[in-house]
Amino acid sequence: MHTRAVAALAAALAAATALFLPTSEVRAVDAHRPQPMVVAHRGASAYAPENTLPAIDKAAALGFSWVENDVQRTKDGELVVIHDTTLKRTTNVEQVFPGRAPWKVKDFTAAEIARLDAGSWFSPAFAGTRVPTLGQYMRRLERNHEKLLLEIKKPELYPGIEAQTLKVLANGGWLDHRHLASRLIVQSFSAGSVRTVHELKPAVRTAFLGRPDKADLHRYAAFVDLINPSYRTLSADYMAAVRAHRGPHGAPLGVFVWTVNDAAGTRTVAGYGVDGIITNKPEVVRAALKTL
Ligand code: G3P
Ligand code: CA
Repeated sequence: MHTRAVAALAAALAAATALFLPTSEVRAVDAHRPQPMVVAHRGASAYAPENTLPAIDKAAALGFSWVENDVQRTKDGELVVIHDTTLKRTTNVEQVFPGRAPWKVKDFTAAEIARLDAGSWFSPAFAGTRVPTLGQYMRRLERNHEKLLLEIKKPELYPGIEAQTLKVLANGGWLDHRHLASRLIVQSFSAGSVRTVHELKPAVRTAFLGRPDKADLHRYAAFVDLINPSYRTLSADYMAAVRAHRGPHGAPLGVFVWTVNDAAGTRTVAGYGVDGIITNKPEVVRAALKTL
């Protein structure tokens, strides 16, 4: 075969391979470092109420495919998307159920939570917005062609939430090859929870939220693909230490940092070569990346 034809074929194969590989693996097959993924934290949470369907619609409308969310469980076993362990800050629960302090998510049924307004606290424009179930949320992501960094929040409060979450994901078609390869990462501040997800479904990409000691990274590399620290705790030295390990899918460990909301922070972490930037202000991060 002609040399140029061989080169073209190799390039086409590399491009096709990259389409189906996680970010960290794309980096491995691409001599040019790709820019970090921009992840809309709790959806486009600077512009719409966090962890709601309007927040992920807004992220999509702004042109961002990756969103982050938080998953917890109701009293009667429904998975819902909400950050705090109480309903107080992001709903009108105090008005609707005045005698039920401290208004913990796990003390309310799904039907009760479905009555709450999860938008008015943010702006009257979002009055009537509901706390979505994970199933509703996944269907909207699918409709919007979005990608999900799913955080299992406070798993110690919800025994078995890992298997239950995987079941909802499977029922929605999110555990097929195409979703696993490029559209889903499951993360938690709980290493035990992330390990459980990995053991139950090894094909799922996982991330640990935090900054383990360098000496412990090899242990995490047995069950996580990414280490996701607060951006304020990251350094070039730590980045190199993370990269020196390969995760369960054979690629060097990746890094998504949180929560970067300004240009200076974006430039700093992009300089470290992070794979993803989790942000409340995705367009600020995107604009800063364009200047690099
Ligand atoms: O994805 C990182 C970030 O979401 C972790 O912190 O409290 O916003 O869930 P928090
Ligand atoms: Ca989160």
